[in-house]
Amino acid sequence: MDVVMGLLGCGTVGAGVVELTRRRAERIEEMTGTRPVIKKILVRDTTKPRGVRLHGEVLTDRPEDVLDDPTVGLVIETIGGIEPARSFILRAIAAGKHVVTANKDLMALHGEEILDAAESAHVEVFYEAAVGGAIPLIRPLKGCLTSNEITDLKGIINGTTNYIVSKMTETGADFEAVLAEAQALGYAESDPTSDVDGLDAARKLTILASIAFHTRVNLADVSVRGIRSITAADVAYAKELNCVIKLLAVGRERDGVLQLEVRPSLVPLAHPLAAVSDAFNALFVRGDAAGDLMFFGRGAGCMPTASAVVGDVIEVLQNMRMGISETVGATRLPRKVVATNQGPEGRYYIRLTAKDRPGVFAQVAGVFGDAGVSMESVLQRRLADQDAQIVVVTHSVRQAELTAAADRLALLEAVAAVDNVLPVEEMDADGPVMDDIMDDLAAPTASLS
Ligand SMILES: NC(=O)c1ccc[n+]([C@@H]2O[C@H](COP(=O)([O-])OP(=O)(O)OC[C@H]3O[C@@H](n4cnc5c(N)ncnc54)[C@H](OP(=O)(O)O)[C@@H]3O)[C@@H](O)[C@H]2O)c1
Repeated sequence: MDVVMGLLGCGTVGAGVVELTRRRAERIEEMTGTRPVIKKILVRDTTKPRGVRLHGEVLTDRPEDVLDDPTVGLVIETIGGIEPARSFILRAIAAGKHVVTANKDLMALHGEEILDAAESAHVEVFYEAAVGGAIPLIRPLKGCLTSNEITDLKGIINGTTNYIVSKMTETGADFEAVLAEAQALGYAESDPTSDVDGLDAARKLTILASIAFHTRVNLADVSVRGIRSITAADVAYAKELNCVIKLLAVGRERDGVLQLEVRPSLVPLAHPLAAVSDAFNALFVRGDAAGDLMFFGRGAGCMPTASAVVGDVIEVLQNMRMGISETVGATRLPRKVVATNQGPEGRYYIRLTAKDRPGVFAQVAGVFGDAGVSMESVLQRRLADQDAQIVVVTHSVRQAELTAAADRLALLEAVAAVDNVLPVEEMDADGPVMDDIMDDLAAPTASLS
């Protein structure tokens, strides 16, 4: 039996979906008892070369050829953005068609509306490719790990910023120069705002956190800071401190309260996230039963993203065969409190520019002492113009104390600027993953018999 599908969009991801569906057609038929046929593909320009084998008149620029065709049972959306993708998906759902989408922006901002519509229409909406490209994240969180209370999510979920900070670390170049190179190579958009200001990662975090913490979180719940403020100096000092700078998406639940943030952090080189470079993504998940897990892989690209999309397609086809639906109850979840005083308690890196003269460091140290912030390590470098750069890494401190110290430092006559303040990831409280796993392996296992 054939299952007729319609594809919306045939760009990077859509072309991969066409190719992978063709390559795996036999296996899909074996697994689902149905042969997937892509009947129509909606694009803007039907004359543009697509780089994949397409039969006859498959391309169309008329949405109704996909959305109003009663033989189309499954619509795959790879257009991207909010409109017209949202309207197309809602129209497909209303017509009783299942939907697979790779659209993170849409699912982050309108996921509830779409999943509610799907439940009412008794159809499936799957969106594994929306976060982490090829890496299975949504299905493990929704399925294999549902017996857990998830307490922590921490990851690198934006490839563009990870490429930029990786290149800054590798070459010592400044943010603007690396961004320009990334744009020239096509790794960053001509308008890079969504990536470099952390919005893309924040949208993905709302999707992951909603599933992991069994609630609905909105973009406004996430405290967001991107990487524009990271300089070559920060990257160099991080290196001296045996760290790398990474843009992290962090979600945690403590006593029923969520804390959600996207922010650049110093990550110790021994931390597994430090080794996640370039366009790779990684996510740590901590569950009360499963313990610590790490997911790692290609976060974007034609075939990696198609891998997730076609995986969803196969699952829809299997569910269609069995007559079951997984979208039921997807949005009927308790709302949880989200902390407004964002910013974790922990160690911080503070870089400041001050006058290079006797007594200045004592003043700086005095401000930290008065604010109850103790210093773990200090670096001091002479700059031109009688100035010096002072870098302090604090012991664990509450954010309120740190902010008080930074505000008072900025008021000192001898301090020209507090240039940057960044959290430093812990190895024990937040990132013991590998050590814990190794300890578990070494520990004697209780016999079950
Ligand atoms: N690229 C990745 O690595 C990646 C990874 C994960 C998730 N995603 C998500 O996957 C989706 C697609 O991304 P992409 O990189 O494949 O985008 P893309 O290369 O820009 O392709 C978009 C496709 O949609 C078509 N399209 C756009 N607006 C349209 C409209 N109004 N009517 C009809 N067709 C329209 C375009 O047609 P024309 O070709 O004729 O212009 C093009 O074929 C996005 O939601 C993105 O966030 C992408």
